[in-house]
Amino acid sequence: PAPGWTVEADVVVVGSGIAGLTLALRYAALDPGAKVLVVTKDVLSSGSTRWAQGGIAAVLDPRDTPDEHLSDTLVAGVGLCDEEAVRVLVTEGPGAVRRLIAAGARFDTDDAGELQLTREGGHRRNRIVHAGGDATGAEVQRALVQAVQESAIEVIEHALVLDLFKDATGRAAGVTLHVMGEGERDGVGAVRAGAVVLATGGMGQVYAATTNPLVSTGDGVALALRAGAVVRDVEFVQFHPTVLWLGEDSTGQQPLISEAVRGEGAVLVDAGGTRFMKDVHELADLAPRDVVAKAIMRRMRETGADHMYLDARHFGGEKWRTRFPTIHAVCLEHGIDPVTQPIPVAPAAHYASGGVRADLHGRTSVPGLYACGEVACTGVHGANRLASNSLLEGLVFAERIAADIHAERRAASGATAGAARSVPGEAGGAVRPVPGEPPADDRPAGLIDPRARARIQGHMSRGASVLRSEESLSEVAKALLSVRWTPVAVEPCTESWETTNLLTVASVLVAAARTRQETRGSHWREDFPDRDDAQWLGHLDVTLTGEGL
Ligand code: SIN
Repeated sequence: PAPGWTVEADVVVVGSGIAGLTLALRYAALDPGAKVLVVTKDVLSSGSTRWAQGGIAAVLDPRDTPDEHLSDTLVAGVGLCDEEAVRVLVTEGPGAVRRLIAAGARFDTDDAGELQLTREGGHRRNRIVHAGGDATGAEVQRALVQAVQESAIEVIEHALVLDLFKDATGRAAGVTLHVMGEGERDGVGAVRAGAVVLATGGMGQVYAATTNPLVSTGDGVALALRAGAVVRDVEFVQFHPTVLWLGEDSTGQQPLISEAVRGEGAVLVDAGGTRFMKDVHELADLAPRDVVAKAIMRRMRETGADHMYLDARHFGGEKWRTRFPTIHAVCLEHGIDPVTQPIPVAPAAHYASGGVRADLHGRTSVPGLYACGEVACTGVHGANRLASNSLLEGLVFAERIAADIHAERRAASGATAGAARSVPGEAGGAVRPVPGEPPADDRPAGLIDPRARARIQGHMSRGASVLRSEESLSEVAKALLSVRWTPVAVEPCTESWETTNLLTVASVLVAAARTRQETRGSHWREDFPDRDDAQWLGHLDVTLTGEGL
């Protein structure tokens, strides 16, 4: 639709989680005269960051080393991490966390004032900083929102991003938005900007049960695809192993039971009270997340159960109330007292390890368009993200992107020679386009009826979740095509745009999952149960305009 209003900015940041707000603050500090605009779909404090429990992984203990953090991250990523990107993450991470503390975030400390560090799955050291016990994301979000509100950064809330527009050279020149606002900034408008940063978070709402909030509808990935950008490794959706099980029919955002609970000694048991992780992995209950999720699913199958249990009764009331107050309260709210009862848990969709392909400076394949945080695929997560590396990625890459935009703007204005540009990364193994049918989204189908949202989620959860096969995936693909081709006159509104985005990302996810005929990381094919390095040690790149689709 044609924009009814236009605003100008030097940098527009789409999204207001840790990635978007850190980037906006960092850029504003580098270039105080610039107009930095943050647009966000809900209010500034919404999004996934505030739901993060466990914490931020960083080498802050003098006995720990970046090499060990690197090694744990590479192991979790099962051969698909870009080692250079991981090295950036683990070496720049500690400084980025310290700068977050300097910006106002308060993490838990011991009596001597030292940061308390805990452990989560896949980490061989205690290196996770946390806040409020298990409310790390809420504290990070609070601190960043406050800093933005005290700055000159401008904000437009209730603004759903629609599409990227480009200049005559093909460079990103701004975005169109649908704003549920008042006065002159209501309805569809446009932001013109020299640099556009996507920090829109994940796509968990593509599934019926997820830890992600309602706003995580894959808007950034869908926009990037429509803009011709390359999207990488979308088949790797991480299922968090321990999500509070609320019954088979429970849909929408589900309560997370942080890995930190296992980090502090909780164990997984089946209905008979038998611990089953000890025989699966040397790290037992603290094995990498995909290993734990798969072991839970296997045990559920073997025993015919629809959930397992997390037993942390031995923590006692005091520890539950002080170390895990959020989880304790949420369990009680659902009628479970973790001091006296094991907690029923099952895996649910949690994190998109793939996303818009981005290089070490967050540059995508479209000049002037950057991607930061969960929406991006920088190569730090590979086939399975290591716990608590996500907030860290948002922090580290936000700083790098701000520096890159700043250097580029200075170069463009003739102030410096500017940094040499490289083509966004092909590192980390062979790359193949996703071939074959179905075409994900390159036919004009118009907006999708919001009532199809639950249908899309149901199909994805049945056929494209933790366990997948050609049979289940082709059923989902057929169902998604039928959603696409059901002719309904649809009003343009937030719900119909979101449902359209969900269908787009679901379609590319299914196409990529059908293509990767192996089991690796969080992608588990029942019909190809083994990892196949000879064939599949590489990435799957998707574009809507390229040959692959
Ligand atoms: C958790 O607290 O278990 C989630 C941490 C993460 O997803 O990295």
